[in-house]
Amino acid sequence: MRFDVITLFPEQFRILQEEGVIARALKQGIADLRLWNPRDFTTDTHRTVDDRPYGGGPGMVMKIEPLVSTLDAARQAARADGVISRVAYLSPQGLLLNQAGIVRIAAQPGWILIAGRYEGIDERLLTKYVDEEWSIGDYVLSGGELPAMVVIDATVRLLPGALGHADSARQDSHMNGLLDCPHFTRPESFRGQPVPEVLLSGDHAAIAKWRLQQSLGRTWLRRPDMLANQALSAAEQALLDAFLQAHHAAESQVAPEVESDAESDRES
Ligand SMILES: C[S@@+](CC[C@H](N)C(=O)[O-])C[C@H]1O[C@@H](n2cnc3c(N)ncnc32)[C@H](O)[C@@H]1O
Repeated sequence: MRFDVITLFPEQFRILQEEGVIARALKQGIADLRLWNPRDFTTDTHRTVDDRPYGGGPGMVMKIEPLVSTLDAARQAARADGVISRVAYLSPQGLLLNQAGIVRIAAQPGWILIAGRYEGIDERLLTKYVDEEWSIGDYVLSGGELPAMVVIDATVRLLPGALGHADSARQDSHMNGLLDCPHFTRPESFRGQPVPEVLLSGDHAAIAKWRLQQSLGRTWLRRPDMLANQALSAAEQALLDAFLQAHHAAESQVAPEVESDAESDRES
């Protein structure tokens, strides 16, 4: 799949291109990332990409002409490579992205992403040239570069071959409506904290069952909203019930100790 990103700060994308899983996927040709700077499509000597807002007020607005010229060039280049891309603008006013949204994005052959700056971009560009607007959260960043990188990272890691193990992405939080289970690695015990015994047992069925139970339990404890619309099977419900019973039992054992600690604090 292909991403063409329109940005005033193409060098920021080096973080994706040079290190880690996404850089490897790009180098292997699993995904293609092209960067387009609207300054290269200006016609004045100052290479102007922004101007004051009509109606007054603070800040600057990204001008439509250089953006449209950049968009045309990016679209043509993608087409020449056989990719028909959709256009998305990163915006705090856009559709709030979640994992289901990323799965949908990953199913497209190409996207042209527009990273805004300043107060944003001329509205007429959105009206006529942008297919979708995406937000990465209900907060405002100073530019669309980080959001674009967030989307590219989350998308590329879903592409076949991008991760070392094909199951890695499938088992991640949010992929199947649950949070991921806890993970452990060596040593078997660290400062009195042992690894759960089942993980050392070599019994793959028992390990899979424990992991599912942990996922269900964690989701219930941390993100009950994610379970609210899910119909659990009888087996899953039984695993969750057992998890919660053990959790509550452990909590009630901890409570008196906390009390006695507090008492001894008072006494001392
Ligand atoms: C300072 S913001 C402009 C915010 C705009 N005035 C508003 O309130 O909607 C500059 C750029 O950062 C990007 N941006 C900021 N927050 C974002 C978010 N939560 N998700 C996606 N893009 C965001 C957008 O591309 C935006 O054009």
